[in-house]
Amino acid sequence: MPRTLEHPAALERDFLPLNGTDHVEFYVGNARQAAHYYRTAFGFRLAAYRGPETGTRDRASYLLVQNKIRFVLTTALSPGHPIAEHVKQHGDGVRDIALWVDDAAGAWRETTRRGARSVREPETLTDEHGSVRLASIAIYGDTIHTFVERADYRGVFLPGFRAVPGEDALTRPTGLLHIDHMVGNVGWGEMNRWVDFYRDVMGFRMFKHFDDKDISTEYSALMSKVMSNGNERVKFPINEPAEGKRKSQIEEYLDFYHGPGVQHIAMATGDIIETVGRMRTQGVEFLRVPSTYYDDLEARVGHIDEPIGELRKLGILVDRDDEGYMLQLFTRPVEDRPTLFYEVIQRKGSRSFGKGNFKALFEAIEREQALRGNL
Ligand code: FE2
Repeated sequence: MPRTLEHPAALERDFLPLNGTDHVEFYVGNARQAAHYYRTAFGFRLAAYRGPETGTRDRASYLLVQNKIRFVLTTALSPGHPIAEHVKQHGDGVRDIALWVDDAAGAWRETTRRGARSVREPETLTDEHGSVRLASIAIYGDTIHTFVERADYRGVFLPGFRAVPGEDALTRPTGLLHIDHMVGNVGWGEMNRWVDFYRDVMGFRMFKHFDDKDISTEYSALMSKVMSNGNERVKFPINEPAEGKRKSQIEEYLDFYHGPGVQHIAMATGDIIETVGRMRTQGVEFLRVPSTYYDDLEARVGHIDEPIGELRKLGILVDRDDEGYMLQLFTRPVEDRPTLFYEVIQRKGSRSFGKGNFKALFEAIEREQALRGNL
């Protein structure tokens, strides 16, 4: 049913119009080495750098780009720096889910007026390529949203960054196109608080799809709700741990991240067999489901275009809803702490998140949790 008829509220002006995800900034222990990993294994291209050589004395940052995805890896250059403290507490992790807006000051004003805690008041950065306006608010844990307004900027990324010229000899593209969704893990009983935050402070709404019931099974031991902005370019599922037969995977994350944070980033591809094949060859480690998952796959999900043998070989999962189907696969955590991981997703009509795969997936996650002694 058209939402505009169903909900008069949808006719109101969107007080926080978002053009999409601008970039994701990670605080890491050694950005130079992490950048190497994302270039050679994930296929990102080194596009820009900011550090002592470009006039920034306290940190080094590497901008990595693949199609519409921009990651920034940042390291502190001294032990007392807040970035160093972030890494000490959390290990390598996501600090900033930056959102692309037309009016950063307006976005900051509207969200702080509705209760968001300000982290950075609206500020204009300028260099010879123009100016960018930035403002930031706090979300769960030590994570933030920076609003990025870049209409008046012609440089490669942000003032202070210097473009890395020429081809990137290290990059091995894998066909990752854009961020599909980013998932946050929050503490026991806090999911609804953050659902309310995204609704009341950010103007998001519950994303309506065909598996939007709370996820709570004896296997998953988690609850999840998906929040989306008005144009559905930005989707944030929020997880909290739940009691199950075993220790919740969300609780393991919270223990090792020392609090709430980004659990996984899903990146879309137009050809998951090609993308995952390349990533595997380049050293990315994925979760494995038992081979029996594929024995009755077409009986469960109906006909799909992709050869089952290829999916079985690469460990790619499939799920279907009333709108179509989707293929997905999850990496193992990409740090020694069992915290952040990635999802590769190809949507063929489906707008949901793979509920049908949860049982097989969570059993695979639990096997790894047991190996770590955390079950
Ligand atoms: Fe996901």
